[in-house]
Amino acid sequence: MHCFKKITDDLTWVGVNDRRLAMFEGVYSVPDGVSYNSYLLNDEKTVLFDTVDEAVRQRFFENIAEALGGRKLDYLVVHHMEPDHSAAILDLTALYPDMKIVCNEKTLEFMRQFFDLDIKSGVVVVKENDTLETGRHTLRFIMAPMVHWPEVMVTYDEADKSLFSADAFGCFGALNGALFADEVNFEKDYMDEARRYYANIVGKYGTQVKALLGKLAGLDISLICPLHGFVWRKKIGDYIAKYTLWSDYTPEEYGVMIAYASVYGNTENAAEILACRLRDRGIKTAMYDVSVTPSSDIVSAAFRFSHLVFASTTYNAGIFVAMDEVLSDLVAHNIQNRVVAVIENGSWAPTSGCLICEKLAACKDLNILENTVSIRSALKAEQLSEIDGMADAIAATLPAVLKKEDLATTAPDAIEPQAMFKFSYGLFVLTAKDGDKDNGCIINTAIQITEKPYRISVAVNKANYTHDMILKTGVFNISVLSESAVFAVFEQFGFHSGRDTDKFSGVEYDDRTANGIRYLPKYTNGVISGSVSASFDYGTHTVFIADVTQAFVLSNEPSVTYQYYFNNIKPKPPAPKEQKKGFICRICGYLYEGEALPADYLCPLCKHGVEDFEEQ
Ligand code: FEO
Repeated sequence: MHCFKKITDDLTWVGVNDRRLAMFEGVYSVPDGVSYNSYLLNDEKTVLFDTVDEAVRQRFFENIAEALGGRKLDYLVVHHMEPDHSAAILDLTALYPDMKIVCNEKTLEFMRQFFDLDIKSGVVVVKENDTLETGRHTLRFIMAPMVHWPEVMVTYDEADKSLFSADAFGCFGALNGALFADEVNFEKDYMDEARRYYANIVGKYGTQVKALLGKLAGLDISLICPLHGFVWRKKIGDYIAKYTLWSDYTPEEYGVMIAYASVYGNTENAAEILACRLRDRGIKTAMYDVSVTPSSDIVSAAFRFSHLVFASTTYNAGIFVAMDEVLSDLVAHNIQNRVVAVIENGSWAPTSGCLICEKLAACKDLNILENTVSIRSALKAEQLSEIDGMADAIAATLPAVLKKEDLATTAPDAIEPQAMFKFSYGLFVLTAKDGDKDNGCIINTAIQITEKPYRISVAVNKANYTHDMILKTGVFNISVLSESAVFAVFEQFGFHSGRDTDKFSGVEYDDRTANGIRYLPKYTNGVISGSVSASFDYGTHTVFIADVTQAFVLSNEPSVTYQYYFNNIKPKPPAPKEQKKGFICRICGYLYEGEALPADYLCPLCKHGVEDFEEQ
């Protein structure tokens, strides 16, 4: 019986899950299964995007037949020729003889290698940015060589802003009845598998993934349909942000991955003691016994953490066999830009430390610490200071925030500006009214300060007209923006001054609270009215303390955070053709071109100062 899921009115997931596969690609365990995704577009022409693995093709054919509803299949777009997505092509050509295959030259070459098939007549060969009109939809083809094979391409549907992303943005794990990433707790339940998928399948090809991300940067993407795992329709920017980190070999988090090989437990003991010493210094650790942990898990952890420790016994005058395999895997996957420390063990001729360093010399940008700890059979009490020394050396390469003892002795006025970005700001539209004039601006500084009575504070930049209105009238509303907010809201209330524009021009609603002040009934989840009880002048800003006079919940959508805004709402600047020296405003994306940013510079769009610009 067919089993498919609708994505939009005319797009259907017709893929199949496989929970019997022991080893994906013959090498990666998939304990939670895997999905082979395929998508059918029912436009004036019908288009199938990719096929599935040999093992599940029967259910796949049932899905296609049902989703087509008796229509013929006009096109098969082949994004990737790896057999887990192409195995059913041959049978498909027999089932749908009028079907044309849409692919690039390299795909055609691979197709001829895999199949004995005369495919000359029914092929449409496409190149970068070629398009295919299917009725309402225009499909644009974008080449993505080496993400994961050389023939890979992706398709952008200009009508629905959907990206058919081939192996990019995939994930291990069967779908279990869900289809969209927002139907599950992806961060908690699937991010580890997404990282393991990325690191092991395309981790080696960071440069090529970056090239694809560059091509996608200028596209407005509402839906990502990968070949494995969930379809993305929300928080797309968050997932792209992960890909940006991974493809750049930038660690996701500060912390130490300790991989150890221990025959009789003595090397493990040294690794455990190091882990304790690191934790004592406030440093996150994760430990893996290479003899029992699949290499793909360790490769994944190496992509996650900033620091890697390898502890290995010497075996047959070399590195212990399982550790040797893990290191080979890491080198093959191009791991780079990490701090590394090594512990070796050997009862008569410890050599594994040197050999590990030699092996890792093939990796770029590894900072291999000099404090190698060398053990003879078992760690002795007099060597504990060496483990402490290694923990200190690792801590010294971490940001100061992790070194508790250093903070006490740092200059009392030392300030890391980046620490300010650790505040979990929300975003709000602050509205006020003076006579007949309504106005509003975007702020990120509204907080509750007491409960009895309900009292809040807002800090408002004096450059904002809303500031002057509140100073004069003493009343305001805060509309709490939710994740449904679109960029136009930020443009409307954040990029112009109410002194010379009507912020509510073109707005179809005129909703007000009892104080007569407007609020936003849309893109928000709450409105709070304040009556100022005190105000404090802090130079650039006034801090208003206000009693809450009314407060209402408008929706149950999550409040938007600064991070969410950057990742998911603010449009990504198009990939620059040539890199110009300049500084980008983190708030609105405005680019200041020039060698140096004047100290008193204010963003002409959003009025934020130099502290919110970063050099590009
Ligand atoms: Fe799932 Fe590279 O194929």
